Amino acid sequence: MSLGGKHIVLGVTGGIAAYKAAYVARELLARGAEVRVAMTHTATKLVGPLTFTGLTGTPPVTDLWDPSYAGEVHVDLARWADAIVVAPATANVIARLAHGLAEDPVSATALCFDGLLLVAPAMHHRMWQHPATTANVATLRARGTHLVGPVFGKLASGDEGVGRMSEPLAILDALTASLAPTAPRDLASLDLEGVRLLVSAGPTFEALDPVRFLGNRSSGRMGFALAERARDRGARVTLVRGPVALPDPRDVEVVNVRSALEMEAAITARREQLDAIVMAAAVADFRPREIAADKIKKSDGDDAPTIELVRNPDILAGLGAWRASRASERPYLVGFAVETTDLVASAQKKLERKKVDLVVANHASVAFEGDDNEAFLVARTGVTPTGHVAKTALADRILDAIRDGLATRGSLGAPKS
Ligand SMILES: Cc1cc2nc3c(=O)[nH]c(=O)nc-3n(C[C@H](O)[C@H](O)[C@H](O)COP(=O)(O)O)c2cc1C
Repeated sequence: MSLGGKHIVLGVTGGIAAYKAAYVARELLARGAEVRVAMTHTATKLVGPLTFTGLTGTPPVTDLWDPSYAGEVHVDLARWADAIVVAPATANVIARLAHGLAEDPVSATALCFDGLLLVAPAMHHRMWQHPATTANVATLRARGTHLVGPVFGKLASGDEGVGRMSEPLAILDALTASLAPTAPRDLASLDLEGVRLLVSAGPTFEALDPVRFLGNRSSGRMGFALAERARDRGARVTLVRGPVALPDPRDVEVVNVRSALEMEAAITARREQLDAIVMAAAVADFRPREIAADKIKKSDGDDAPTIELVRNPDILAGLGAWRASRASERPYLVGFAVETTDLVASAQKKLERKKVDLVVANHASVAFEGDDNEAFLVARTGVTPTGHVAKTALADRILDAIRDGLATRGSLGAPKS
């Protein structure tokens, strides 16, 4: 989509991903935007301001006190901007944005601006997971700031984790989607208005030591499609995501988790408030009994280590048992069953054993990486084959079943306790 005529301030801060800001600038220009760049002092150490002068034709603002600017440059930049994109956003600048500090060109301009602010965090995963950063990000989200990423991947330090900046194209897509005029609301399609829905997505990673984990091939696409379609149909959506390389959907509460235990805690903390829960995540059945404090070393002549596993909680069965113990029909519970044989029979057993309302059964050969899927919707009322469909279309079929299930129970649009 074109950004023709849009004025974008690109804020570049002092993360190792600062070099990728040049790609963001180039792509903004390619889509027709006019771009001006503001940089923190630290960013100028990591990428040369001249790179942005060359790309945009205008020198970046690197110093609020540069005598060559007449007047207050941050005020002028903010007045000029239709949107500000901070990419990469350090933990430090996120803290400044959250607390209204304004000591550098990026945060001073943002504090002067009341339009679309899109922030693409990039940092070591420990900085991202620190409670200080979590609280600052929550403050920004609550204020309407759009966040894209960070995503899971290899970090500059060599570690792996959630902290990598989203790729420039994903940042551009998030910006264009956020700037797009809101489509006229089709009331017929807002059939989940007011429904509070939680979707889990992606794999879980079960740590063996500080650098290794047991994981699986889940891409998270099915859960993300569910979250996005539910949002578009009017639901208030929470997405509990394991480590996947997908940008956060807009206007959805996103909770990043890594292990099955973290996922269970995130869901348990929210379950009372929900109308429906869809467990689309591929939660690991087992985790190592011990997580080695240091990297497990390979020494010549040693036998391969034996890793003892323990069972992870079955989150879906736990939700089914909790709901049954309250003699309640809320929340509506949906699980997935990925099988290689006897799809429907296994799903029917799972439906009863886990005391849930719907099981989406699909074959391991189509379940994971692609954009399409083929499934059976297995409920007590019957089995519906979906045929070969895009994951978004399958998401809609599942959401139709949830809507119908809630309506049958009289809880669609019912007051929430
Ligand atoms: C080589 C190097 C790379 C760094 N990368 C990051 C990073 O990716 N994310 C981050 O939050 N901080 C990173 N830091 C720390 C920040 O540069 C530091 O917190 C700085 O004060 C941020 O300044 P700024 O937010 O004003 O740009 C890095 C530091 C160094 C020395």
